Amino acid sequence: KMRVAILISGRGSNMVSLIEAARAPDFPAEIVLVLSNRPEAGGLAHAAAAGIPARAVDHRAYPDRAAFDAALQAELEAARVDLVCLAGFMRIFTPGFVEAWAGRMLNIHPSLLPLFRGTHTHEQALAAGVRLHGCTVHFVVPELDAGPIVAQAAVPVMPGDHPVALAARVIVEEHRLYPAALALVAGGRARLAEGRVMFAADVPPAEGAL
Ligand code: GAR
Repeated sequence: KMRVAILISGRGSNMVSLIEAARAPDFPAEIVLVLSNRPEAGGLAHAAAAGIPARAVDHRAYPDRAAFDAALQAELEAARVDLVCLAGFMRIFTPGFVEAWAGRMLNIHPSLLPLFRGTHTHEQALAAGVRLHGCTVHFVVPELDAGPIVAQAAVPVMPGDHPVALAARVIVEEHRLYPAALALVAGGRARLAEGRVMFAADVPPAEGAL
C-alpha cells in the first residue's frame, strides 16, 4: 500500500473522508501521518482520535518558507511517505518542495478548475453567474491551483444561492471525490506523465497523431 500523509490547516473534513475511505481493506493507500501548519487546527484532534500520528509544524516557528518546507520534508521522510494529500492546506510551497513531490502530491480545490483559483471560490462562482460549480482534485505544480486534473465533481448553482449553501453542496462532493481520486493515483491507475494525467485506460497517442 502507498503511504500517504495529509496536510491540513483547519477543520479537516476532507482529511476525515480520506481516513475513513482508507480503512477499507482493498483501498490502495494507508494514511500514516497528518501534519498541520496551524497547531490550533481542529483536524489534528480528529486524526489523533482515529489513531493516526498527527503533528503541528507551525510555520510561524520558521524564518522563511524554505525552512518551513524543509521541516515538512523531514517529517515526511521520517514517516517514509509516498504520496502527499493537501486537504485545506493554506500555505504556498517553495518551488523546490513542489518539484520534490512532482507526481506524488494531490490537492483538492473547491471549484471547477481552471475557473476560480485562489480563495473565496464560492463567492467567485456566484459573482461570475455560472450555473455549475464544484470541486477538483489535481496534481500540485508550482503555479497555484494550476496542476493537471485527476477528477472533478459538479453541483448546480441554485437561483438565489448563497456562498454558505453553495459551499455545503460542494463539500459533500469533495468528500466523495477525494478518496476516489486518491484511489486512482495510489492504485497506479492515474499518474502524471509529461505534464498531463495519464489514466490506465488511455492509449498513448501514436507518433505524429493529434
Ligand atoms: C475545502 O473546501 C477545500 O477544498 C478547501 O478548503 C476546505 C477545507 O475544508 N481548500 C482550499 O481552498 C485550498 N486552496 P476541510 O478542512 O474541512 O477539509
